[in-house]
Parts: sequence; structure tokens; C-alpha cells
Amino acid sequence: MKRACLLFLLTLSLAFGSACGARINPPGDLSNEDLTVIGMSQVGAESDWRVANSESMKMVFTEENGYRLLFEDARQKQENQITAIRKFIQQQVDYIVLMPISESGWDSVLQEAKEAGIPVILVDRMADVEDESLYAAHVGSDFLKEGTLAVDWMESGFRESGDTVKIIHIQGTLGSTAQLGRTAALEEAVAARENWELLIQLDGDFTQAKAYEVMTAYLSSLPGEGDIDVVYCENDNMAFGALQALEEQGYRCGREGVSIITFDATRGALTECLNGKISLAVECNPLLGSLVEEVIQTMEAGRIPEKHRYVEERVFTKGDLTEALIACRDY
Ligand code: AHR
Repeated sequence: MKRACLLFLLTLSLAFGSACGARINPPGDLSNEDLTVIGMSQVGAESDWRVANSESMKMVFTEENGYRLLFEDARQKQENQITAIRKFIQQQVDYIVLMPISESGWDSVLQEAKEAGIPVILVDRMADVEDESLYAAHVGSDFLKEGTLAVDWMESGFRESGDTVKIIHIQGTLGSTAQLGRTAALEEAVAARENWELLIQLDGDFTQAKAYEVMTAYLSSLPGEGDIDVVYCENDNMAFGALQALEEQGYRCGREGVSIITFDATRGALTECLNGKISLAVECNPLLGSLVEEVIQTMEAGRIPEKHRYVEERVFTKGDLTEALIACRDY
């Protein structure tokens, strides 16, 4: 009896639907919404920078502002990002926003998005694709420039003494634009200077735990206290891990000891810089939400957005900082 009644209702609703010309969406299809639907694939939550970046997106892409945000955290895996993009294509979102974990491996899935007519906006890092029309725009940082700012600071700090400058390099996720740019700047500078010596390159994957682990293992492998001048850490969280490892093994950090260089300049790193333990913090601005919205609004108005938009960034040393300045920063 119950089943017969259900069947009757289903037939009635289908007949009514088609008679009125109503569109019956497949499950998960959001193309009927009034809101602009954004499918966003974020790398993960590996660093304080990343958390601030996600927050910045969530603050802009709200229902009050006319958006429905479908946010997917890839937990640091490219295959999760690819799965998320395919899901967004099925759901017929209006735009795909992608923070690519690494530069390679995107051609096929971005081609699928293009064939579905969904514009892709790259945020933060780049995707190295054969065909540039696979993405509409890119908004992020110039990572090579950030690395060059760090290297210039090293150059001015160590110019006086002709002594060997011994450097430990802790790299971020290998193959990511942030790693490639910051690494290229350092490697070029080392190759160009006879007295700069790269002691070791360690993979810290942009996380505090990994950097602490690899740095502890490296320092423990040295016969005695090593002669270290600079630790070049490709983000703040890795700098915190390296600092902890160095201090635990009796190294002094700062003016009279090891110079720690970091990238991001989040509040935590600026505080350590003001305390004198981090020597240089190169800014990497995660607050990209409103710039991504500008790109979307440009396209909604039928115009073509700028292909690459880089944010302005600066460097901080102890002398540039006060507690009030740090407290005013948004991340
Ligand atoms: O791509 C930006 C980098 O990724 C930031 O420096 C780092 O903190 C993040 O995880």
C-alpha cells in the first residue's frame, strides 16, 4: 500500500515537472542557483599561512556577498585536488579556484574543466601547463622575487667578512612554485659566490614537524657543534621547527649566532624576529580573497582579467618591528 502510494506521488511529480518545463537537475548539480557557485580546491592546512589564506577566501565568498563556496581541503595530496576538480565539473560550478600543490600534472584535468566551459583561477602557486588558456587568471606571490629579497639581505649582512658563509637550506614541498622560486634564488646566489657554501638541503614539506625532524637528525649527525651561519627556511612553520631543533642542541640563534631566514612573515615569525631569534622575515601575503573576487567580477562583467596578478610584499628585520605593529597585522 505504502509503495503504491509512493509510486503514484513520484509519477505525479514527474508529470507535473515536465508539464511545467521545470529542469530536474542530476544530484549534485548546482547550475540552477542564483548564487555564483565557486568550487575551491585548497592544498591543505600545513602552515599558518595556509590557514590565513583559507580564512581570507571564506570571508569573501559568503552567501551575503552572492556566492556559494564549495571548499575542499586536499590534505596535501594532488590526487585529492584532481578528484575535487572533477566533482566540481560534475556539479557544474560557475568557477573553479585552484591552489595547486605542485606545478606539474594539471593539463588533463584543466582541459576537462575547459571543455565543460568552467573558468579556472589559479591562486597562490602556479600550474605549469602546455596551454595557457587552461586557466583564466593567476593571483599570488612572486616567489623568485621573495627569494631574491632574502639573498640580497644575506649579501649585505655577510659582505664585510670574506669568511665562508655556511648555509643550511630547508625546502618546502618539492615541485611547488613557492619552493621552486625561493630555491632558485638561493641556488643562483650560492653558485655566484665563492665563499657561500650550501651545507645541506633538507625537505621540510612546509611543516613545522617535518622541519624539526630533519633538522634534528642533521644536527645530531654532526661530530660536534657545527659551524653554521644561516638557516634558510622556505616558510615560517619550518623556521619554528628549525629554531626549536637548533636551541635544543645548544645553538644560539640571532645576531650572535645562527641567522634564521624565513618566508611568510606571519605574526608568530614576526614575534620571533622582534625577540631577535629570527633575523629576516620575507613577507608572503596570504590575504588573496578580495583579489580573486575581483577576477571573478571582471569575468562576470564579460571582461578579460589580467593573466597574472602579483601581490606587493616586503621584508622585516627586528628594527622594523614593534609589538603594536605585529598586533595590527591580519595574520
Ligand atoms: O605557497 C605559499 C607557501 O605555502 C607559504 O609560504 C607556505 O607557508 C605555504 O604552506
